[in-house]
Amino acid sequence: MYQEKLTFIDLFCGIGGFRVAFEEACYENDIVPKCVFSSDIDKFAQDSYEENFGERPYGDITKINEEDIPDHDILFAGFPCQPFSIIGQMKGLSDTRGTLFFDIARILKAKQPKAFILENVKQLVGHDKGKTLKVILKSLKELGYHVNYSVLNALDYGLPQKRERVVIVGHREPIMFTFPNPEKPYKPLSEILEKNVNKKYFASDYIQEKRKNSHKSSYYPSIWHENKSGNICSYPYSCALRAGASYNYLLVNGERRLTPREMFRLQGFPDTYRIVVSDGQARKQAGNAVPVNMIKAVALKLLPYVAIGMDQTAVLREYDLRFNAS
Ligand SMILES: C[S@@+](CC[C@H](N)C(=O)[O-])C[C@H]1O[C@@H](n2cnc3c(N)ncnc32)[C@H](O)[C@@H]1O
Repeated sequence: MYQEKLTFIDLFCGIGGFRVAFEEACYENDIVPKCVFSSDIDKFAQDSYEENFGERPYGDITKINEEDIPDHDILFAGFPCQPFSIIGQMKGLSDTRGTLFFDIARILKAKQPKAFILENVKQLVGHDKGKTLKVILKSLKELGYHVNYSVLNALDYGLPQKRERVVIVGHREPIMFTFPNPEKPYKPLSEILEKNVNKKYFASDYIQEKRKNSHKSSYYPSIWHENKSGNICSYPYSCALRAGASYNYLLVNGERRLTPREMFRLQGFPDTYRIVVSDGQARKQAGNAVPVNMIKAVALKLLPYVAIGMDQTAVLREYDLRFNAS
């Protein structure tokens, strides 16, 4: 039986959050996804990716000639957030790492895929009074793409993690793409937390006591979050996992750190995803990853426009309404 194939490339692939999301969305629609190129500069991210997808990503994208990248239907890129994030120096595009966006742009220009999905921290929207995002959107439009963006929260797409990210979707055809509506409820924390947790994840008696003396939670189970000024709050979901956060930034029930598997679950990775790096690397990788469920919801909205075999009626109707309405 003929099955439609969609090719894609996975830039700044990390541990493959985009790939897991897109592959799941494709399989649900009887489409065969095929990754034709991946890249990440980090050796440990490459180790995780290779273990799970059977291919070792290429390294530094700035060193790769765009003409050497195979043609593809869709480009994915969760480009590094440091230049824009509140943690970084807020230098944005003037920071050299900010120019990694221009590596995406040169690949789009050379390869002209049908569509792309980019992801970054929500601070990108307000950075430099909105000028940074404006430059990005303008550059993408100049490359011939119709572009939409939205700030989405992983919590609205079934994951118990408050993680807000800007998602930019671009497509060559003038379709009427809309972002997915929030899907409630999110998975309960009880389905994320492991039952028998090694002692090494528990905070010291001193830390636990200090937390419990200053905070009483209204939820069980809960994840306790200590902000920069030492205030503690707790919720029946996790605050955003962060690659570089201090060890006790998030504590389950005020007692213990999250295990690597719990962190991967909070990002929507299935338990079949193999974790082959140290706890420290796993924490960094989970903190850097894109929430799988959120990107899958976006991919499911985009698929009818890029997959020839899917029912195009709705697409054409939307096109008619928009462009042929008198
Ligand atoms: C925000 S993370 C993306 C994570 C990914 N979306 C995931 O789900 O795991 C950004 C990634 O860009 C990678 N990176 C940074 N500079 C790079 C470069 N010059 N070339 C290739 N990858 C780079 C980092 O190693 C990091 O894994």
